[in-house]
Amino acid sequence: MVSKIPRVAGPRPLATGNWQLATMTYYLTTPIYYVNAEPHLGHAYTTVVADALARFHRLLGVETRFQTGTDEHGDKVVEAAVKAGLPVKDFADRVSARFRQSWDELDISYDHYIRTTDPAHVRVVQEVLSRVHEAGDIYFGEYGGLYCFGCEAFYLERDLIDGRCPDHKTTPTYLKEENYFFRMSKYQGWLLDYINDNPGWIRPERYRNEVLAFLREPLEDLCISRPKSRLEWGITLPFDARYVTYVWFDALLNYLSGLDYPSGEPYKKFWPAQHLIAKDILKPHAIYWPTMLAAMGLEPFAHLNVHGYWQMDSGKMSKSLGNVVEPRALTAQYGVDQVRYFFLREMVFGLDAHFSVEALVARINADLANDLGNLLARSLGMAFKYRQGVVPAPNVPSDLDQEVILLAERAAADFLQHFPALEFSRALAGLWEFIGHLNRYIVANAPWELAKQPEAAARLDTVLYHLLESLRWIAALLRPVMPASALKMSEQLGLGLALWDQPLPQVLQWGRLLPGGALRKGPALFPRIETEEK
Ligand code: MSP
Repeated sequence: MVSKIPRVAGPRPLATGNWQLATMTYYLTTPIYYVNAEPHLGHAYTTVVADALARFHRLLGVETRFQTGTDEHGDKVVEAAVKAGLPVKDFADRVSARFRQSWDELDISYDHYIRTTDPAHVRVVQEVLSRVHEAGDIYFGEYGGLYCFGCEAFYLERDLIDGRCPDHKTTPTYLKEENYFFRMSKYQGWLLDYINDNPGWIRPERYRNEVLAFLREPLEDLCISRPKSRLEWGITLPFDARYVTYVWFDALLNYLSGLDYPSGEPYKKFWPAQHLIAKDILKPHAIYWPTMLAAMGLEPFAHLNVHGYWQMDSGKMSKSLGNVVEPRALTAQYGVDQVRYFFLREMVFGLDAHFSVEALVARINADLANDLGNLLARSLGMAFKYRQGVVPAPNVPSDLDQEVILLAERAAADFLQHFPALEFSRALAGLWEFIGHLNRYIVANAPWELAKQPEAAARLDTVLYHLLESLRWIAALLRPVMPASALKMSEQLGLGLALWDQPLPQVLQWGRLLPGGALRKGPALFPRIETEEK
């Protein structure tokens, strides 16, 4: 395989071009999570993916804004607060802070943390409601239907599975009441055209197809209120104080209120958004939200990026099924970067993945402790043993060394292409092929033999240099995924923060590790996890 690599003289530009970078600003959002339960691994996954994307774009010099937060109104939150014996706002404060703390523990670099109880958010929701109402797209009417309290949504018979909610597996209750409705049906044709004209708008394609299939049926108008007699915990409708806003018309607007819409600078600079969600909330994001934006006369979001579920043996990991794994339990035992790496490597974005501690441990031991950890430890170990911990100057490269440079460039170019295209697993697998190659390069060059021959000193310098410089590239590419470990790698290479504040394409130029630099010994970056069988 290696012999097929074309020989190219001199450095080549990296293929960094892609659709996202063309804009030079990047606004990325996660769903705002319900505060009726503690954060679990599913929430952590979306937030880590968002964080990795945000960090990646920042590294490319793209001005980035990354928003996450909590969704705090609705029946479910009231129910949970009652159970906890707390006033609802106090309860929301507590759980929202827990989410925030979890994200801090996971090294999440959000720029703005929004809560739907923020007065600024409430103001935006009321302004938008007034405007859409005045424009005639919100009307008063009566609706009766099957209501799932878990989803806070009405279901049609055909959407149920054996008469039960597909998500919560509970039987919906028949409810009939007077409410306000958003004229969503009016925008069905527009939405259909928009999706057809913009093939990558909802991605991966399977979710676009799901939305298109849904739009084959006539769209109903959306009930956007709840009478206060039934639910008080919400944003009061500005045109009828007997009602509060139904959660989606409240929650979705966080993506704008967090930018100080309508007059704030962040809004002017950063809209439209890249939204990141799991498939559970595809319909509100792919149908309610763009039609709401159309009614407001706003440009649609840039992309809806949809991922699958983490499954447990018992089904989708969810609080209602009671099979959740807490992020803190995992990071405390296995390490933050280890969990972040696992998320991005193990799940193919868009598809479901199975979660197990065994799979996590297997990845840590094989990819991190063994492949990467050993490469780093061996390379540094030899540099200390044979060169007193000083970066040697390379001599004329042999074919084997040229190949390392070509593979580094290829791995970097592939990574820079796949990562922003949400192909994280593929991007990392490619990088690990390079890591595997470097481990074989060590064996092929047998530095321990070279060290025995004084006439091979120049050759040994060259081999060590190629290993250390390759590790610098690997650290640079891993920054969005494992920020703390990448920094530690850089410190061990004697670089610390040097080169760190430059855009990635500048960092990724062969030869920027300067000979003469002092390497630093450090503890093993990714200790092996001993399993019970051992
Ligand atoms: N509050 C709404 C979203 C409003 S956005 C305007 C909500 N909250 S939630 O707490 O239920 O979070 C749902 C999101 O959590 C999913 O879309 C996904 O991002 C994440 N996940 C929850 N369970 C998950 C899995 N089992 N697997 C993967 N992601 C999961 O819906």
